[in-house]
Amino acid sequence: MSHEVIQSTVVPIIYLVSTVLFIFGIKRLSKVKTARQGNTLAAVGMLLAIVGALLELGTVDYRWIAGGMILGTIIGAAFAIRVQMTSMPEMVALFNGFGGIASALVATSVYWKLVVQQGGAGTVAEVIGTDEAITVMLSILIGGITFTGSIVALMKLQGSLKNGQPILLPARHFITFGLLFASIVFGVIAVVAAGSDSVQWVLLLAGGALILGILLTIPIGGADMPVVVSLLNSYSGVAASMAGFVIGNPLLIIGGAMVGAAGLILTQIMCVAMNRSLLNVLVGGFGVTDGAGGGGSDEYTSVTSCGPEEAAMVLEDAESVIIIPGYGLAVAQAQHAVRELADLLKARGTKVTYGIHPVAGRMPGHMNVLLAEADVPYEELLEMDVINPEFKSTDVVIILGANDVVNPIASKDPTSPIAGMPILNAHEARSVFVVKRSLSPGYAGIKNELFEYDNTMMIFGDAKKVLQGLIGEVKDL
Ligand code: TAP
Repeated sequence: MSHEVIQSTVVPIIYLVSTVLFIFGIKRLSKVKTARQGNTLAAVGMLLAIVGALLELGTVDYRWIAGGMILGTIIGAAFAIRVQMTSMPEMVALFNGFGGIASALVATSVYWKLVVQQGGAGTVAEVIGTDEAITVMLSILIGGITFTGSIVALMKLQGSLKNGQPILLPARHFITFGLLFASIVFGVIAVVAAGSDSVQWVLLLAGGALILGILLTIPIGGADMPVVVSLLNSYSGVAASMAGFVIGNPLLIIGGAMVGAAGLILTQIMCVAMNRSLLNVLVGGFGVTDGAGGGGSDEYTSVTSCGPEEAAMVLEDAESVIIIPGYGLAVAQAQHAVRELADLLKARGTKVTYGIHPVAGRMPGHMNVLLAEADVPYEELLEMDVINPEFKSTDVVIILGANDVVNPIASKDPTSPIAGMPILNAHEARSVFVVKRSLSPGYAGIKNELFEYDNTMMIFGDAKKVLQGLIGEVKDL
């Protein structure tokens, strides 16, 4: 079969099959039950996409491609094997950044080869066409913003950049929007500039984009990071789609658009979960002007604590128990222990359910994935809207390594970093046990007045160790 026939018939069919696999893959990812299958479908789609792209290229030096694939596979596998479950959001942020910079580099290489090396005296728009020239500049702009924005997000999630708190520069809105406007102007000039004269404008555009990524992400802090990570995910898709236009690859356009749209939908879901508008998150600095505590003292005055033995005695008479998992459960890797405790309680006739907050943990669906690892039945995981009316009639709530998502201050203090965020109304239950190691704050860095409520008892310790203690006590009842 000639290369022309392969290009005109085989490759489009492969791309079509990949597209269908991506669509079904992403659809299956929307449910925990079918997510593994969705992942496999999308991975097969990606393999086909690579095969299609290689067939489309025809005679190329495969040594470079093989070298790149081997290197990429080694780095990717090393990351994936070593990453802790609690560091997954950092890894997602890093991958978004890589996606963004890869798209910008693809567009730059096309520009470099066709305009700078072979272009002659014509303008960029004349050499590669106006549409392609615009998409090259957009790829560099969006890809650059995504890259540095993701690196800053990664550092904030790790707590290595001002402990994840917002960094507010003076006149930041003026600087940011001024630089955005200037970068767009550099891009427009680059499109109409002649051949190698355009290089300086492209460099200015790239520099502007890289600084913009930093400026757009540093003012965002506290509990708003999930929104930013999903937005950067969306940007990386848009950048890939732009790169698809630049190299004329329909699959990259479709795949990128799907990531862009999925990221945007997730951003919207996260905004609803945080009760914030997207503009409000992007402008950033929420709640910091009044101090990280969002009003009031950070000191705790009247906290009651107990051990697993007392908790087991309360559980003995409980007819209904709601378990609220949070980030600390993931840190402690206590998902199997929590399942064991729940099984014991259910065997005693107690009704056990789990209250899942949409931003509990450090990534969307974090708690669902964690509990699925321990085979906790999906139907026992109830979302916030479903579980909230249940708390009033619940005997015991056990909060395992969760903090911000049960903090009643969210609905009381408009200056708090989590103001307006809907919470799980754990405080409405008859008895509340909070399992954590100390009185340290959660991700938003604020005091949780729930710890001082009359119906709350703290059980200090690592979630896994406390759960093992509780399991032993419940077995002895
Ligand atoms: P957090 O409010 O972050 O609180 C987690 C608590 O776990 C901490 O207070 C910590 O207290 C405790 N902890 C840590 N290790 C522990 C261990 N080994 N055993 C027991 N407890 C342990 O968690 P959350 O309630 O899940 O809320 C999530 C927060 O992260 C929200 O503010 C959210 O906006 C933000 N965020 C979410 C995402 C997504 S998409 N889910 C992404 C980025 C940020 P001690 O140190 O005292 O033990």
